[in-house]
Amino acid sequence: MLQERVQFLIFRDAAYQQCIHPDCGAQFGIEQVVTGCNICGSLLDVKYDWNQAGTPTDWSYYQNKWGRRYAPLNFSGIWRFHELLPFATPEHVVTVGEGQTLLQQADFVSKYVGMDTGNLFLQYEGMNPSGSFKDNGMSAAFTHAHSVGAQRAACASTGNTSASLAMYCAVSQLMKAVIFIGSGKIAYGKLSQALEYGALTVQIAGDFDDAMKRVQEVCRELGIYLVNSINPFRLEGQKTIMFRVLEQLGWEVPDWIVVPGGNLGNSSSFGKAFIELKQLGLIDRVPRLAIINAAGADTLYELYENRGVRWNGGHIDRNVLQSYYDELDTSNKKASTIASAIEINRPVNFDKCLRALDFCDGVVRKATDQQILDAKAKVGIGGIGCEPASAASVAGAKMLREQGIIASSDRVVCILTGHQLKDPTATVAYHTTDQDKFNEVLGVRGVSRANFANRAVAVSNSLDEIIKAIKLYG
Ligand code: F0G
Repeated sequence: MLQERVQFLIFRDAAYQQCIHPDCGAQFGIEQVVTGCNICGSLLDVKYDWNQAGTPTDWSYYQNKWGRRYAPLNFSGIWRFHELLPFATPEHVVTVGEGQTLLQQADFVSKYVGMDTGNLFLQYEGMNPSGSFKDNGMSAAFTHAHSVGAQRAACASTGNTSASLAMYCAVSQLMKAVIFIGSGKIAYGKLSQALEYGALTVQIAGDFDDAMKRVQEVCRELGIYLVNSINPFRLEGQKTIMFRVLEQLGWEVPDWIVVPGGNLGNSSSFGKAFIELKQLGLIDRVPRLAIINAAGADTLYELYENRGVRWNGGHIDRNVLQSYYDELDTSNKKASTIASAIEINRPVNFDKCLRALDFCDGVVRKATDQQILDAKAKVGIGGIGCEPASAASVAGAKMLREQGIIASSDRVVCILTGHQLKDPTATVAYHTTDQDKFNEVLGVRGVSRANFANRAVAVSNSLDEIIKAIKLYG
């Protein structure tokens, strides 16, 4: 343990923040709380001098830590890879044992998606302590917040970021959580966490995109530490999702990573993970990345697939973006989907996501609410369910398979981002609501059939009737 502490301290000197714009590239110390480049306004990366950090480039080094998991930093699925995100000092690390997640070979879903048996894997990030992948990023951002002496931390959220922040604040008692939610849909599982864990919850009249804008203003004004994924330290933690996927595949690189896209933090962090692993020689090839929007919140799809916006070495065509956002404003078009977690029209990590798509030869698709809910039902039948947004990854994989872009022999990993119990309303409505009331109950449009509904059977309180029903349906 002592030896690990010393290594940790040396590593920290090798980290800095850097603007991602190729014409700017301004650097900032990691002790600075800037969240965006204060020279040109672009996003920031956390960067490392790997030589100075002395990051081991042999997977067995990381693998061996599991045998020493009595140490909390080895137990955490984030911090046992700390040499690959070497910005933190051990005394500031805040961990609640996040990242104990499962990569499951999901043969029951592979048939639905159209894959050969054994080739579809589900990465269950819902197994994190607050029930979503957010804990990966939050442990990292919270650690940074703690290291710079923050007293309060804030986020705008569709629910999971806020649940995660509230949890870290409550467990550590180091900071007060201030969360901004929109007045639209927030799944009760998520809201219940924020309320119970004692976060100051500000519900603004507007949607997530409005809340995201406001929280940045408020943080600037009041000097509150912002933990949304615009914060580059968040993405450092989320890189570890990919490290664990590789770990569970015996360090073999899959052909595809399929992930839902909302604010585009996950996809951006995955891209950064693969860029760095390649640089370090820890992998020799890169998986393709598929990002799946909800059809009712499809900014990335529209700009990438239809309007041809590309990373282009960091010189992104801003005019196309601007005219798209102007169109949204003029038509007052708001994001709308049953997958409330990804009900986002103005993703803050758009630029980094383009970089990830560029590096990983990526594609973007959009899935309707119908496709998402049907895919979710198929995942659920396997016994470890997910929330609607997560199932976008499976719906997207199915679509890409049907289009012949994914081959049945490819090895595909779909990321299930949130736990099934996060949004019981959507699940119960899917399985119980009459078809004609479906859209009304779910507050959505366009779901014509719950194709895989498992309906409750209503019977009178009579032994005969109950036995009859079991014989008929069982
Ligand atoms: N899946 C779930 C379950 C989420 O909660 C989110 C984002 C995403 C996917 C999208 O991930 O933003 O990295 O593209 N939820 C955020 C929140 C916005 O506030 O909880 P992304």
